[in-house]
Amino acid sequence: MEGSVDSVQELWANGCDPPSRYIVKGEIGPINISSLPPSSPIPVIDLSRLFQPDGADELAKLRSALESWGLFIAVGHGISSDLLDEVLNMSREFFQQPLEEKQKYKSMSDEKNMVMEGYGNDGVESDDVALDWSDRLQLVVQPEDQRTLSLWPSTPSSFRHTLHEFGTKSANVRDMVLRAMAKSLDLKEDTFVNKFDEKASIYARFNYYPPCTRPDLVLGCGAHSDGSVLTILLLEKDVRGLQVYKDGNWVDVFTTLPSSLLVNLGDGMEIMSNGIFTSAVHRVFTNSAKGRLSVVEFCGLDLEKELEPADGLIDEKRPRIFKTVKTKDYLDRQNYGESKKALYSFKVEA
Ligand code: OGA
Ligand code: NI
Repeated sequence: MEGSVDSVQELWANGCDPPSRYIVKGEIGPINISSLPPSSPIPVIDLSRLFQPDGADELAKLRSALESWGLFIAVGHGISSDLLDEVLNMSREFFQQPLEEKQKYKSMSDEKNMVMEGYGNDGVESDDVALDWSDRLQLVVQPEDQRTLSLWPSTPSSFRHTLHEFGTKSANVRDMVLRAMAKSLDLKEDTFVNKFDEKASIYARFNYYPPCTRPDLVLGCGAHSDGSVLTILLLEKDVRGLQVYKDGNWVDVFTTLPSSLLVNLGDGMEIMSNGIFTSAVHRVFTNSAKGRLSVVEFCGLDLEKELEPADGLIDEKRPRIFKTVKTKDYLDRQNYGESKKALYSFKVEA
């Protein structure tokens, strides 16, 4: 398809089996949707309780979730269900448009922001890593002066306004979680949030995972941990696909709760917490029946700011685990498809 974006949606619409560059080398493991357990094992945290006088239990639950899972389902986050529904609806509408319309927002590499912006499919640097069975739209949402508005869809007409709203509200959720995380570690509440100034970044990624004729051969998103500090995900209720790697197994991550969000830690927070919290290694599988949608917001520091363990988390009993690294240099090193290899390359030698 000379000059056009490779669209997985088109491959599916044309009944194609996955081309070889999408085929994952190695085992995906058995994925049988009909035999999956009905309830989600993922910890649920009520953010509104974390700052209440009787919030100690919820804080302990948060800390434990982040130490062992690196993610949790958030309720009581303060974003209205109307806004969340609107974000999912407009995303669905965007992907349902004809290819020509979506290609108006075709992705381009943005060296300055170190992210691909626009519609398309992420390239991968290495031939050993299979392409993801997904189509994406990626946009810088914050800092506001770095938005590329020409890549913000004008249809559906509410898209720009709604994304702006969602970005602003998500920044509040981010700050709430950052404060609670510091509190749960007995640090001053603003320890982490102070590092997020007006140049802190949020970029949004709209993922559409079309069905696939061979879900046993491809992944919607290969195993990775996010390069963010934390990531906020809006998932469709009760829809499977996302999995987290925990204690040697891939565990299904989904929510049955209305208006919930998923929060997962990126490598940045593993560094800032001096390894007490873990970034979640996760992946997405596909199925042959139904497409899946997710809206993801990656929250990180200003690219010029340094990631480093918080002072209060380093002592004789717990020496510093990670070196100080500029966010930009960290993202340069991050290599998709190679779980946590980048993160471990910044470990202090034992
Ligand atoms: C991602 C990601 C998960 C999902 O975009 O980094 O992990 O459920 N997405 O779409
Ligand atoms: Ni991810």
